[in-house]
Amino acid sequence: MKYRTLGQTGEQLSSLGLGCMGMSFAYGNSDNTQNIATLEKALDLGINFWDTADMYGNGANEVLLSKVLAKHRNKVFLATKFGFRYKEDNSNPQNSLESYIDGSPKWIKVAVENSLKRLNTDVIDLYYAHRIDPNIPVEDTIGAMADLVKQGKVRYLGLSEASAETIRKAHAIHPIAAVQHEYSLLTRELENTHFQTIRELGISLVPYSPLSRGLITNKLDVGNLEESDFRRQLPRYQGDNWKNNQNLAQAFSEFAQSKNATAAQLALAWILAQGENIIPIPGTRKIERLVENAEAVNIDLSTADLAEIDMIIAKYPNVGARYNAQQFAAVNH
Ligand SMILES: NC(=O)c1ccc[n+]([C@@H]2O[C@H](COP(=O)([O-])OP(=O)(O)OC[C@H]3O[C@@H](n4cnc5c(N)ncnc54)[C@H](OP(=O)(O)O)[C@@H]3O)[C@@H](O)[C@H]2O)c1
Repeated sequence: MKYRTLGQTGEQLSSLGLGCMGMSFAYGNSDNTQNIATLEKALDLGINFWDTADMYGNGANEVLLSKVLAKHRNKVFLATKFGFRYKEDNSNPQNSLESYIDGSPKWIKVAVENSLKRLNTDVIDLYYAHRIDPNIPVEDTIGAMADLVKQGKVRYLGLSEASAETIRKAHAIHPIAAVQHEYSLLTRELENTHFQTIRELGISLVPYSPLSRGLITNKLDVGNLEESDFRRQLPRYQGDNWKNNQNLAQAFSEFAQSKNATAAQLALAWILAQGENIIPIPGTRKIERLVENAEAVNIDLSTADLAEIDMIIAKYPNVGARYNAQQFAAVNH
């Protein structure tokens, strides 16, 4: 594994983290024996940056991680998030539409205790606001998060899907170490909206869904997604968009083969090549894919390779939106 520095913290994080969401949420059923084996393999590979959230499986993902962390807490830089709150009567935590955003200081105090308990740890290394609550002044949310740092419950702060303006405001109140945002070959808007701000402020970008939720690997079969799979809700995986994206993934995969790489590896190498301040968190529940993805850190792309990749993507412009209207309403506050 190779390592990158988180923001201005001096912390050395594996250049590829591990997104753990799919182990308990969003992508259908999974097998916890296999998930635990994958987490243990991540430790063997030196993948020390693990990403979870309180809302993944309504706490189940944090509990799953705690089983491995119990013996290996000091080997992992642990990131979790608060902000999506399930309605009390929600009996189906797979359905993210049943949640709402709460960035109030009152809720943050409760949420952090819940996460610490489920993770069975004394401290969270990186605590993100999963979404910015438009009904709470950002000063109040960040102030409450900063209190957690003072209390030693949290080490560093992060924001997810925040606007550049909010990031700047927040950073003035308390240093922000990381900004998490969807970023991949198919989702590049933040190159225009966020890159300049986060570079100027010395913040790391943690791209989520760096494989476009599996699409770019050319292995995703949307016809066979489980009923509960979150991707069924997203325009990108439907109708004409999906036809476009299948062709795109096929062409990208052929180019990857010509470089002796898999499409997943090439997509991750491309993200890593966009800046030293970028630390993606690809998700997988499978050991063999974890091993495959980890190899991406050893792929160097030339200027010609990067230009060829841009050309392939540009040939298939009908990619479709990453979220539906309701999900878009929750981002960029
Ligand atoms: N802040 C936010 O709002 C937010 C939103 C979404 C996600 N996240 C975080 O970001 C992490 C990563 O994002 P993500 O899981 O949504 O998407 P992703 O990393 O782009 O893709 C994950 C999907 O790709 C598949 N996959 C992984 N490696 C593969 C390979 N080598 N070949 C073929 N398929 C492969 C996985 O299937 P298998 O699991 O079956 O291998 C899974 O379906 C999440 O785990 C979560 O921690 C954050």
